[in-house]
Amino acid sequence: MQAKTLFRSFAVSFLALAAILTIIGILRRDHNGWTDLEKAIILRQDSLMNVTVMPKDSAILRSRAAELTPRMLRSRETQELVAKMLYTVRHPSQDGVGIAAPQVGISRRIICVQRFDLPGEPFKACLNPVIDTLFGEMAPGREGCLSIPDKRGIVTRHQGAVLSYTDAETLEYHRDTIEGFTAVIVQHECDHLDGILYTDRADSLWTL
Ligand code: NI
Repeated sequence: MQAKTLFRSFAVSFLALAAILTIIGILRRDHNGWTDLEKAIILRQDSLMNVTVMPKDSAILRSRAAELTPRMLRSRETQELVAKMLYTVRHPSQDGVGIAAPQVGISRRIICVQRFDLPGEPFKACLNPVIDTLFGEMAPGREGCLSIPDKRGIVTRHQGAVLSYTDAETLEYHRDTIEGFTAVIVQHECDHLDGILYTDRADSLWTL
C-alpha cells in the first residue's frame, strides 16, 4: 500500500515535471520573435544565401529594418543567420567587404563588416548597430554593392565613425571608434538598415 502511494506520487511528480519542461520548450521555440517566413529563410537556405538585388527586391531593400529583441539576440536563428551572412559575403561569387541582413531577405538590424582597422582584418557581425557620431574629414571614395551588381560610384563620406552594437560572437555590448575605409563600410551597411542605397548618395555612377 505504502509502496503503491509512493509510486503514484512519484509518477505524478514525473508527469508534472515533463509537462513543465514541454511548456518551456514550446515557449522557447515559438516566442523568440522570428516570423515563420524569417525562420524558413534562415534555417532552410544553404550557407550561401540568395542575395537580394535591385530593382526586383526593392520592397525589402527600401524598408527600414526592425531591431532584434533581447530574446532574438540570443536565439539560434541569429547565430545561424550570422554564420550564413559571413559565409555569403566572403564567398568568391560575392567577394564583398560588408553585407546587411536585408540583402539576404531578412529585414532586421544586422551587419557584417570586414574590419580593416583590426589585426588580421577579420569579418565581424554587429547586432543592432547604431552610428553614434561621424567625425573626420569627408572624402570621396569608390563604392559598389552586392545588391546593385554591375554598377560602381563615387560617394563622399566621413572617414570616422563611432559605432555601438552587440557583438554577435560574445553578445557583449561594444562602442568602437572606427577610422578609414572600415568607417565607410560601416556607413554603407548601416544605410542598408534604413532602406538607403549608396546610389542615393553618389556623386557619380557608372555601369561596368
Ligand atoms: Ni550594399
